[in-house]
Parts: sequence; structure tokens; C-alpha cells
Amino acid sequence: MRRGPFQEGEPVVLFDRRLRRYMIFLRRGGVTDLRGGKLLHDAIIGREEGEVLSSTLGERFLAFRPTLSEYVLEMPRGAQVIYPKDLGMILLWADIFPGAVVVEAGTGSGALTMALVRAVGPSGKVISYEIREDFARRAQRNIEAFLGPTENLELRRADIYEGIPESGVDRILLDLPEPWHVVPHAAKSLRPGGIFLSYLPTIVQVQQLVETLHGSGAFALIETIEALVRPWSVSGRSVRPEHRMVAHTGFITTARKLCSERSVIGYQP
Ligand SMILES: C[S@@+](CC[C@H](N)C(=O)[O-])C[C@H]1O[C@@H](n2cnc3c(N)ncnc32)[C@H](O)[C@@H]1O
Repeated sequence: MRRGPFQEGEPVVLFDRRLRRYMIFLRRGGVTDLRGGKLLHDAIIGREEGEVLSSTLGERFLAFRPTLSEYVLEMPRGAQVIYPKDLGMILLWADIFPGAVVVEAGTGSGALTMALVRAVGPSGKVISYEIREDFARRAQRNIEAFLGPTENLELRRADIYEGIPESGVDRILLDLPEPWHVVPHAAKSLRPGGIFLSYLPTIVQVQQLVETLHGSGAFALIETIEALVRPWSVSGRSVRPEHRMVAHTGFITTARKLCSERSVIGYQP
């Protein structure tokens, strides 16, 4: 995590007077056109976070380093990202801990990958699968621009439906269309007590996944949740929920790996 004055090359989020958000990457000599005026990057480099900057039209912008949530929503996307409200839930529901060995697929734009890399820390490891070369390259650029060099991340250009060579893995997290193909590989790759987590947009996919998890005999405590976050407006005497919210994104399904098929209890199809 960077601290201190803004430096060349890093992302900055700017907020206008209506708190609309813009993200730019600082370049020496760079100029960004913003709301009709120009913002000179050299006037931002060397300044502290939380400063108010003026465009050539005199419009004022508040400047901060992006949080991971802000960065995920503003970064260039190849694939659709997992929204911050779900990233937070996923980290806890998959019980990601410092030092964990985590397999993830697909990398997509790298949103979940960044959350995982930060949560496992330098003593952990994230192995992230992506089948598409263009998405893998985009994710790598996104991740490097936000986290800098990452020793604890391996980006693997491969099809996870074909298998996972690692064994003794602590966690497997999937954000891809047919996670049921990964269940037999996860059963071999996860250590006993390891957690399988899948993020899916439709309940029909969830149903197929849950049936496959039960049918494998290798998993228990299979649960599905969704996260609803309702922002509030608190302004004078107007204290009420915002009119708009992100209603549906995806369902989170988790399961625990058993040490043997004889351990299955509590399953009634
Ligand atoms: C919805 S995106 C993932 C977004 C990512 N979680 C994020 O937050 O940025 C799904 C990704 O899975 C990849 N994918 C689909 N099938 C795959 C497979 N069998 N193995 C590896 N990656 C796969 C797709 O190319 C796509 O990039």
C-alpha cells in the first residue's frame, strides 16, 4: 500500500462537487480533460491525498488514492468484475486468511484476484486460472497498476475444467459459468476442511452446482447466500435509504471438503 505524496504512475481518484468519481493514472507532463477543463498531472504529483485541485476552468476536485473497491469499479475491464459488496462477503465466507494457499478461476479483470492477494499476504499464495489470453493480459496490467509487483500471485493461462495439479490447497474460488466441471478436481485438490466457493449469476446454475457437490460425496455444509447492500442518504433531516441500489449481482455458494465420503451427514435430496 502506497503512502505519502502522489507519485508518477499511480492511480488517483478525483471527486467533483457532486462527488462524481473519475480515475486517472499520473504521468509526468500528462493532461486529463475533465468536465470541459484540463487537469495537469504535474500539479498532482508531489501533493498529499485529500487535497483539492483545480482544473484550468477553475472547477475543483478532491484527490485520493483509490481504495480497492473504488479501483475495481473504475479500472479497465475485460470481463465483468465481482462487485465490492460481494468481494467483502466472499473473503469472509471463504474464510481467506494470511498464509492461505488459494486457487481461483477465472481471473477475468482481476478484481477478486486483488482482494485475495491482499488477504493471503506475503506468506500466502494465489494461483489464478484464466482461459483467455486477452483477459489474462488485461488482469495482469490492472493488478500491477494497483498492487505493484506481487510475489504471492501466479497467473496461469489454462482451462481449470481440465484439472488442478496442486494438492493440499486451502481454498478454491470460482467465478465462471459451469463450476460443476471443477467439483471432481476440487475434491482431489482441496485439503480436508478446505473451502470451495462459487459465485454465480443465476439460481439455475446454483442448483446444478449444489446437486453436483452433493453427488460427489466429497463435500458438506453446502450453503448459498446473496448479499444486498442498501446505501443511505443522511443529509439534514432527510435521513432515508437511497433511491437506487445494486439489487442483483450473484449468488455465493460455499462447501467444506470432507476427509472421506463416509463423513457425509445431513443430506436429504
Ligand atoms: C466473470 S469473469 C471473472 C471476473 C473476475 N472474478 C473479476 O472479479 O474480475 C469469468 C472469467 O472466467 C474465464 N473462464 C471461463 N471458463 C474458464 C475456464 N474453464 N478456465 C479458466 N477460466 C475460465 C472467462 O474467460 C472470464 O474471464
